[in-house]
Amino acid sequence: MQIIALLLTFLRLGHASASLHQQAKRGAETNATIYAYGANASSWPIAYGVNDGLLYITEDPTANDGIVPIEWDLASITGECWIANATFVNGTKAGSMYIKPEQNYAVGILPQTRVAYLNGTVSGFALFATQLVYNNNTLLEAQFWAKSTNTTGIYGLMWTLDDSSPNGDFPVVVKASEDS
Ligand SMILES: *[C@@H]1O[C@H](CO)[C@@H](O)[C@H](O)[C@H]1NC(C)=O
Ligand SMILES: *[C@@H]1O[C@H](CO)[C@@H](O)[C@H](O)[C@H]1NC(C)=O
Ligand SMILES: *[C@@H]1O[C@H](CO)[C@@H](O)[C@H](O)[C@H]1NC(C)=O
Ligand SMILES: *[C@@H]1O[C@H](CO)[C@@H](O)[C@H](O)[C@H]1NC(C)=O
Ligand SMILES: *[C@@H]1O[C@H](CO)[C@@H](O)[C@H](O)[C@H]1NC(C)=O
Ligand SMILES: *[C@@H]1O[C@H](CO)[C@@H](O)[C@H](O)[C@H]1NC(C)=O
Ligand SMILES: *[C@@H]1O[C@H](CO)[C@@H](O)[C@H](O)[C@H]1NC(C)=O
Repeated sequence: MQIIALLLTFLRLGHASASLHQQAKRGAETNATIYAYGANASSWPIAYGVNDGLLYITEDPTANDGIVPIEWDLASITGECWIANATFVNGTKAGSMYIKPEQNYAVGILPQTRVAYLNGTVSGFALFATQLVYNNNTLLEAQFWAKSTNTTGIYGLMWTLDDSSPNGDFPVVVKASEDS
């Protein structure tokens, strides 16, 4: 399923025409909520774990201690900016989204906002239309994964390097929706 989602992304990119620019430009969002779509999470918001700074997928973030909702400023892939910034509902800046290789490729927030470079190319997250993708040295990837935690109904947001999955985990597509 994840492979298929990726192929679709590439296909759509491959057919990109003059309209892509406008379409993607419209994709930039402010104060957006990001949602995970997958086997056990249909449009579940992605929230912030205050104890570890990692991102979690759960149906109602406000119902869980230690998990708080966050909002995002997201650029579109046509921009130069690949930094996805999060803000708490009280207006305090939380930081920017990063893949954390040292924590089994969990996706989390680091307070510092720095531009990451891979082989001299800017890397990071931005929106392809409404889908959140990762620019890995100019290759666009969407390899988000939901990993079960000790709490039923709460999944950790992960990044996968391949398509192998332990039991109970499933791939997710991450999409942004601007709050209205
Ligand atoms: C995220 O914050 C950085 C530093 O303030 C800024 O340069 C960048 O444009 C912001 N990203 C978005 C999508 O607003
Ligand atoms: C805003 O909320 C976050 C997360 O709950 C908290 O860590 C931070 O201290 C709060 N900031 C203010 C100014 O209350
Ligand atoms: C985003 O949210 C912040 C804090 O709630 C608010 O101050 C700001 O005006 C909002 N920006 C937009 C473009 O809605
Ligand atoms: C960086 O470049 C080297 C040499 O061209 C290549 O082997 C490596 O895969 C590149 N790394 C990334 C993250 O693309
Ligand atoms: C980025 O691409 C390189 C080369 O294909 C790969 O080795 C690396 O795992 C990728 N990084 C991420 C975070 O997906
Ligand atoms: C789950 O519980 C086990 C045993 O108490 C603990 O070792 C592990 O760190 C916990 N995992 C998470 C993700 O909290
Ligand atoms: C989905 O949730 C059900 C019920 O909690 C569980 O039995 C099943 O293993 C889960 N499937 C995945 C792919 O996480």
